[in-house]
Amino acid sequence: MENLISANTTFTMDCLRKTLLFLLSCTAILLSNNIVSATKVGLNYGLLGDNLPPPPQVINLYKSIGITKVRIFDPNTDVLNALRGHHDIGVTVGVKDQDLAALSASEEAVNGWFATNIEPYLTDVNITFITVGNEVIPGPLGSQVLPVVKSLTNLVKSRNLPISITTVVSMANLGQSYPPSSGTFTSLASEQLTPVLKFLSEGSVPILVNIYPYFPYATDPVNIHLDYAVSKSEAVVVQDGPLGYSNMFDAMFDAFVWAMEKEGVKDLPMVVSETGWPSAGNGELTTPNIAATYNGNFVKHVDSGKGTPKRPNSGVEGFLFATFNENLKPAGTEQHFGLYEPTDMKPVYKLF
Ligand SMILES: *[C@@H]1O[C@H](CO)[C@@H](O)[C@H](O)[C@H]1NC(C)=O
Repeated sequence: MENLISANTTFTMDCLRKTLLFLLSCTAILLSNNIVSATKVGLNYGLLGDNLPPPPQVINLYKSIGITKVRIFDPNTDVLNALRGHHDIGVTVGVKDQDLAALSASEEAVNGWFATNIEPYLTDVNITFITVGNEVIPGPLGSQVLPVVKSLTNLVKSRNLPISITTVVSMANLGQSYPPSSGTFTSLASEQLTPVLKFLSEGSVPILVNIYPYFPYATDPVNIHLDYAVSKSEAVVVQDGPLGYSNMFDAMFDAFVWAMEKEGVKDLPMVVSETGWPSAGNGELTTPNIAATYNGNFVKHVDSGKGTPKRPNSGVEGFLFATFNENLKPAGTEQHFGLYEPTDMKPVYKLF
């Protein structure tokens, strides 16, 4: 009897200890998840502000919230220097639009640009993409993109560097986008963008596309349902043949995919270089709450690994715009796309 009891007690104590240890380790996991809630979403790091924190503090912020992808609009030396040694952060670097004319005219100029702006960082910054121009196609500089994409591609290939060369375009390339299956490029987009897409296809390098459901929503908030625009709807809102859309982001993404297909470009990967929602600047359409809902749903979309109705088998990859509210951008909503206040780095709303 006695032996049995003590054996039982030991057993119970052991169980208790194990349970406690288990609970403790669970708590530790939960806590560490709270500190670094790793997300696959990247962040745009815009610099159009005169009150922005120093880059090393910003990189610390990225680390603390688990950001592993960052896009900068030009090869800013302070930012690239701050990124040294942070190999886990993949960096997308832009070629400035105003450099395109000179670069498209000469391969030597491209080699010079690379030697100055990228070469010094190759050993300790994880540069994954170089983007040639930001939303210049379709437009007056549009035809300067492809020659620079080609020269840079030749350069990184000849050096065997793991950097993808591409460009960033907007939905302005679409002449038609509704319903998604009617997605078609404008004639200028077809002329300027299609050759770029065909070139990217040869190397399976993604095209980067900026997709903002906020803008079409803001032009017609009466007819477009807010839940559809901020990806809050569970039900199908737009039925397009066999494909059902519950949110506008997917519809815009797929309209672009359809437009590419009509140009004979199938299966080219697409990465969302920018998306976001302003938290102020346009009355009741732009509150921290709505911005948090849209951006939160985008993070969930990306982290779920789910695709869009037209591309259900490939997850959506993308970057939120932007890290900070930028006070040197045009007044209005443009200054309020940030997730963080520049002055104290406090979140504008809870997201990560
Ligand atoms: C560089 O960044 C990319 C994209 O975030 C990531 O997949 C890769 O693992 C990073 N490389 C290193 C060495 O951490």
